[in-house]
Amino acid sequence: NANAMWGGRFASSPSALMEAINVSIGFDRRLAAQDIRGSVAHADMLAKQGIISEEDRDAIHDGLKRILEEIEGGHFTFSTALEDIHMNVEGRLRDLIGPAAGRLHTARSRNDQVATDVRLWVREAHDRADAQITNLMDTLLTQAAAHAETVMPGFTHLQSAQPVTFGHHLMAYVEMLGRDRSRIRDSRKRLNECPLGAAALAGTSFPIDRHATAEALGFDGPTRNSLDSVSDRDFILEYLSIASISAMHLSRLAEEIVIWMTPQFGFVRLSDQWTTGSSIMPQKKNPDAAELVRAKPGRIIGSLVALLTVMKGLPLTYSKDMQEDKERLFDAADTYELVLAAVSGMIADLKPVPERMAAAAGAGFATATDLADWLVRALEMPFRDAHHVTGRLVAEAEQRGCGLEDLSLDVMQAVEPRITDAVYAVLGVENSVRSRMSFGGTAPDNVRAQIAWWRARL
Ligand code: ARG
Repeated sequence: NANAMWGGRFASSPSALMEAINVSIGFDRRLAAQDIRGSVAHADMLAKQGIISEEDRDAIHDGLKRILEEIEGGHFTFSTALEDIHMNVEGRLRDLIGPAAGRLHTARSRNDQVATDVRLWVREAHDRADAQITNLMDTLLTQAAAHAETVMPGFTHLQSAQPVTFGHHLMAYVEMLGRDRSRIRDSRKRLNECPLGAAALAGTSFPIDRHATAEALGFDGPTRNSLDSVSDRDFILEYLSIASISAMHLSRLAEEIVIWMTPQFGFVRLSDQWTTGSSIMPQKKNPDAAELVRAKPGRIIGSLVALLTVMKGLPLTYSKDMQEDKERLFDAADTYELVLAAVSGMIADLKPVPERMAAAAGAGFATATDLADWLVRALEMPFRDAHHVTGRLVAEAEQRGCGLEDLSLDVMQAVEPRITDAVYAVLGVENSVRSRMSFGGTAPDNVRAQIAWWRARL
């Protein structure tokens, strides 16, 4: 038997494979609540404009309300023959209220319907991510405040470079997450226009009120071009880009946790809640959650590339290719939200080991730059000369197998006679860190000021 929605010109039903490649109900059922919300707004508007009767609108309302309850209660029977969520809902509405159900689709197409549903869904995903990022920033700020003075090595090339504080290091991630959150807010603003009423592609001859449906659905207004309305998926691509960038940030933090957790570094500990053991090596405590946070961005970035590839080269307006947006979107959002939650959990759980960090901060001649700066200040040496003198002192220390602070004044003066014992004050890592008072630098007072700045903006 032919299709209930468009059976008019179809004599037979689709082949099994046609149905298999076409069907989307397995995943787009996740749009049920948004679909019903959109239909309620559409029916209200149709009645207000005198396009359908108030009795039909009331019947549609009651039916849709019941369908939402059935779906949320888990006793709705989804049908693959009905292809997607839109036709499943409409099909059930017909069972429930009869012919009035057929009036709901007046002045509407699945093309503007699905575009509206997905926008509503992405808007909610933005709001969830916004809240989760804020929560993670809050957790990072708490750890940073506790460790504004905890000295650790700062790295370039993963080689010890200059001492910094653990609080300063964590605050770098607060900056990244702050940018991620502002990208979300930006994108949410841009997506908040309503495509409903664009109909199939050209608009409609019915006297609809698109401003009313847009407002009812919490949009800032209707989209301006009906062709663009049904063929635009930029807002999904933006979500996927933002999630990709943000997950990339989280993967860098995760990688640092993995490194810090190694016995060789030993900078942090995670409790049993956030580690796993080995079935053979009894001593192991593995940071599996951090490793998976490091890995998961691959899925999200893959989704971004997949949808960009689907969209590139598509002619206007709607093509069924675009149905491929949903699985990528849902998987990316699930993954991103899981990763955000896992990182929040780990950061709250993280126990730094300040002794290990301080010991490492002093190793590797980490205060060599401080020594060079001292030569510039105390002896008015040009920085290039100071760099050279310091290099020779580092070589001396390396030869003796000691730190810069262990070189005797005699040894230092053999390299540069004007050095005095005032130099030893800058060779300690605490002094080094405290001296980095330039705006944005690692001095503990700076770090505390940055924490306060972000606290006021959470
Ligand atoms: N399931 C479709 C999608 O996700 C809905 C729109 C179908 N429109 C159409 N003209 N076939 O894109």
